[in-house]
Amino acid sequence: GGPSAPRHFLEIMDFDAATLRRMLDLGARAKRGEVTGRPLAGKTVALIFEKPSTRTRVSFEVGIRQLGGDVVVLSSRDMQLGRGETPKDTARVLSRYVDAVMLRTDDVRKIRELAEHATIPVINGLTDVSHPCQIMADVMTFEEHRGPIAGQVVAWTGDGNNVAQSFIQAAARFDFTLRIATPPELAPPPALIEWARGQGARIELTNDPAAAVKGARCVVTDAWVSMSDEKEGRAPQRHNLLAPYQLNAALLAKAAPDAIVMHCLPAHRGEEITDEVMDGPQSVVFDEAENRLHAQKGVLLWALAGG
Ligand code: CP
Ligand code: NVA
Repeated sequence: GGPSAPRHFLEIMDFDAATLRRMLDLGARAKRGEVTGRPLAGKTVALIFEKPSTRTRVSFEVGIRQLGGDVVVLSSRDMQLGRGETPKDTARVLSRYVDAVMLRTDDVRKIRELAEHATIPVINGLTDVSHPCQIMADVMTFEEHRGPIAGQVVAWTGDGNNVAQSFIQAAARFDFTLRIATPPELAPPPALIEWARGQGARIELTNDPAAAVKGARCVVTDAWVSMSDEKEGRAPQRHNLLAPYQLNAALLAKAAPDAIVMHCLPAHRGEEITDEVMDGPQSVVFDEAENRLHAQKGVLLWALAGG
């Protein structure tokens, strides 16, 4: 875009490594208390949810307020968007009231249309195929615990879902090896794998969780039934397919001895992750949840404060 193109945050793949690093550095500075004043003073952000949320909703609202901005939280059910007003028209209207929009949607095409027609930054708060804010927090969390992520091995076990797909994009940008174990039926999209490998990313796909986890410095999993899968009505089939991919103590024992465990939450304890692992000494899941706040401040400062 031109000089006045809004700074959208839609997908990890949209950015070069230096820009992502800049956002993470801004987030880290905010976390250390080095962002002073009220950089978002006079700015209002609309947070729109088509799906439930605890972390995304609270971390964005609190983060924006802490940076001196104002916030409007909306459920799409209460908006005309929820009864057929187009994302295009919604974008044109909201651009006249607020300074940025965050959207959580079950259809990535809606956020793309919103961004195409908004004259203000649009931030992706999860779609059916991506969750970039989560992955920014995950990279921040890895690096706080284990140092630079470049060259490290991260293993994913479970569904090749939206969070996995943003991890694939991150492997290309942050230069870590990503080993993904999924049932064949739930593998991530081949086109995305091809894109990542074309960028030089080291992505290894397998159906064997033990092979994926072997020697990894970080093991990640997520829900067996994501919000966008609920409408499919195939939860029992997913449970059967994914049971062998559970992140339990036996699987974690195959990772590096100092491996950390991440999960974006909410967890379904006893399904994709056991209590023993989730509450065990290698788990950093609550640091990860906290870092949503800090990493998103970095994104907001980049998008709205010229960071
Ligand atoms: N991890 C995450 O996005 O959580 P919420 O669904 O609670 O926002
Ligand atoms: N994959 C999950 C993540 C929730 C934060 C979902 O989309 O429901």
